[in-house]
Amino acid sequence: MSDTSLKHLAIIMDGNGRWAKERGLKRTKGHEKGAETIRDITTYCANHPTIETVTFYAFSTENWKRPKLEVEFLMKLLDRYLKNELSTYQEQKVRFKAIGNIGALSKPLQKRIAQTEELTKTNTKLIQVLALNYGARAEITTAVNQLIAEGKKSVAEEDISSALQTPYADIDLLIRTSGEERLSNFLLWQLSYSEFHFTPTLWPDFTASELDDIIKDFKQRSRRFGGA
Ligand code: IPE
Ligand code: IPE
Ligand code: MG
Repeated sequence: MSDTSLKHLAIIMDGNGRWAKERGLKRTKGHEKGAETIRDITTYCANHPTIETVTFYAFSTENWKRPKLEVEFLMKLLDRYLKNELSTYQEQKVRFKAIGNIGALSKPLQKRIAQTEELTKTNTKLIQVLALNYGARAEITTAVNQLIAEGKKSVAEEDISSALQTPYADIDLLIRTSGEERLSNFLLWQLSYSEFHFTPTLWPDFTASELDDIIKDFKQRSRRFGGA
C-alpha cells in the first residue's frame, strides 16, 4: 500500500537560539522571528489542498529547564502571538487548538488559549495545533491513567489512541529544522508510521517554498505500512 496524501503535518521548530546567536542577537530575537515563520507556514497549510491539520511543537515539558527569563519571554510571546493572530485565524479560516499540560500555564495564558479555541472553533480550512508544555510520555501516561480511572482492566490500541489529547489523524510527515535528528519527546504514539524529514535550515529561516519542496519529496516516497 502506498498512501502519499498529506493530511497531518507535524513540525519540530528548532534553531531559534542559534539563528539569533549567528547574528549576535539575544535568543529572544530568534523566538520573535520564529513566531513569524509559524504564521507563514500556517497560511501555506491553510491554502494547501490536502493538509487538514498542522501541529507545531512550541514548548516541551523539558523546556522549563531554560533560564527563567527565556521561559518568561516565551510565555509572553505566546500570549502576544495568539492575540495578534486572531485576525489571521479568522481570515484564513483556521481553527486553533492547544495540546499539552495547559493547566500548568499561567491563568491569563490559559484564558487566552481557551478564548482563541472558542473564537475559532467553527473555522474549517485547517486545524492549527500548538503543543505547549507538551511531552509525549506525559500524554500517554495521562491517557493510561484516565483509562484506569474509567475502570478498564486491559486496554486496546484504540482505547489509548482515543484517550490521547490528539484526536487527529496519524501524522503523515514530520519535519524538524536546525539539523538535529531526534524527537525530543514529541508525539511518540502518533508518529509510528510517519515519514521524517530533517533540514539544516534554522526555524526563523524556514519558508513556505522549502516546505513546498519537502512535500514534493514526500509525495515520491513509498509508504508501505508494513505491507509488501
Ligand atoms: C526552538 O528553538 C524553540 C523552542 C524550543 C522554544 P531553540 O530555542 O531550541 O533554538 P536552539 O536549538 O537553541 O538553536
Ligand atoms: C524541542 O526542541 C522542543 C521544541 C521545539 C518546542 P529543543 O531545542 O528543546 O530540543 P533538544 O533539547 O535539542 O532535544
Ligand atoms: Mg533547540
